[in-house]
Amino acid sequence: MALLMAGAVLAGCSTLDESGSGEKSGGGGTNSSTETSAQPRPKAVLASPDASLLKTQKGTLTSDGVRVTNLLVGRDMPGLAFSLDIVRGQVLRQRAWSGGGELTLTPKLVSSTSKIVGVSLNASGKGGARTAIVYYDTQTNRSFASPALIAPTKWAQFTKLVAEQAGDKAEEATQALAKPTWPNGNGPAIGFSAEGDAVVTFQGGTIPAVALAGKDVAGLLSELGTRARAGAQYPTATSTPAKFVPFSPALVGKASGKDPRPQLTLGVDCRVKKCAAITFDDGPVPQTQDLLDSLNQLKAPATFFVLGTSADQFPAMVTKTAVNGMEMGSHNQNHNQMNLMGEEKLNQEVGTSRKNLRRLTGQDPLFLRPPYGAHNKRVDQVLGKNGVAVALWSVDTLDWKVSGSDPASAQSGILGHLNSEASNGAVVLMHDIHANSRSAAPAVVKALRDDGYTLVTLAELAPDTYRFGRPFCTSPQVLADCGI
Ligand code: NI
Repeated sequence: MALLMAGAVLAGCSTLDESGSGEKSGGGGTNSSTETSAQPRPKAVLASPDASLLKTQKGTLTSDGVRVTNLLVGRDMPGLAFSLDIVRGQVLRQRAWSGGGELTLTPKLVSSTSKIVGVSLNASGKGGARTAIVYYDTQTNRSFASPALIAPTKWAQFTKLVAEQAGDKAEEATQALAKPTWPNGNGPAIGFSAEGDAVVTFQGGTIPAVALAGKDVAGLLSELGTRARAGAQYPTATSTPAKFVPFSPALVGKASGKDPRPQLTLGVDCRVKKCAAITFDDGPVPQTQDLLDSLNQLKAPATFFVLGTSADQFPAMVTKTAVNGMEMGSHNQNHNQMNLMGEEKLNQEVGTSRKNLRRLTGQDPLFLRPPYGAHNKRVDQVLGKNGVAVALWSVDTLDWKVSGSDPASAQSGILGHLNSEASNGAVVLMHDIHANSRSAAPAVVKALRDDGYTLVTLAELAPDTYRFGRPFCTSPQVLADCGI
């Protein structure tokens, strides 16, 4: 399926300024009455607010020993949807890259107010029980890993308190707290009990969970941490403002020198690292399996834009790709030009594609790539209402044009476009339906890595910047307005 608008040049991107003004708000929870010496030690159990405080639907991905329950959050919380997607993808890729095995992944609301959402993702299976917690600031649309709850100036003191409570596991607890949070590393998850005590949950069950009395941790928290504690102790319904406010570093606390906290963002931070996302369109085909095998061997994430009619033909391959932790986007149902469709037809196309992807992957696609990149404001609006960001590309490898060439010259053609067009935040367009594209994929991975890129899924590229219905061609943190 060739691209009608092949050779379309992506120009006119303007720099997006990320600077923001200060923002102060948030309620601090007061301590409950567990503070006298006669009281037993606080229980290391995360709060469990009523799940209905966060409006969601659920989806399930079940295949090959994997059972993932997904929270499908509303369109008003795009950053939360992308963040949950990121962590789930990491967990599934980690499983695939370490030889497979049983995995159950279950989400649970652990903190909830109009200012914060905390969702824990609890895994069981090979490697024991593990927990990640996504903290979503509803005001700025940003998500954070749990070390962001602690003020950077108080991190050392927090670590010391945890070590004291860990008893004969003090040294292991200290070492674990210095690691990036699971699933990026093996660091613990930090949260709060319903009584407002801090709960530190270590990975794999080798160190028992530790609780710190609320009175001891209240002064160690960042603004985000204070909000998260309030949402565990006094949960109320979640909501978002009409317009997100700009992010201020004061929310998570600014370190004077090097930040001692091991990790603040949930995945690769592409504001700091040079990132690229490889994407494959028009599949699946049975041979998509070969591509998955080579990507897994290279531990390379990718994003697949699934064509509805191909998914109907090879549904198991769609599920398999999702089980391998690849990002799953929609490439529409019939590969027709969306800019030529009326609103009813557009809704029908997107709706059919979403329904099928939800059935096969347990999740709603967060990205849709219009066939041929053909879209306009009207299409974008309809796509926005349907809860997808409009994914274009910045590097057209023109791989479909060399699908009939010998593999070696096809590969050199693809790498030629890559080398001349890739820059930080690149979104690389390929097609898994062509043998030459699949066989060139490892060389594309290697070339990008040799050039200093960290490979990420599309969601990881700019999780807090994507908006449903907004088109992008490269990381929205770097460039906007694709000119297509
Ligand atoms: Ni296509």
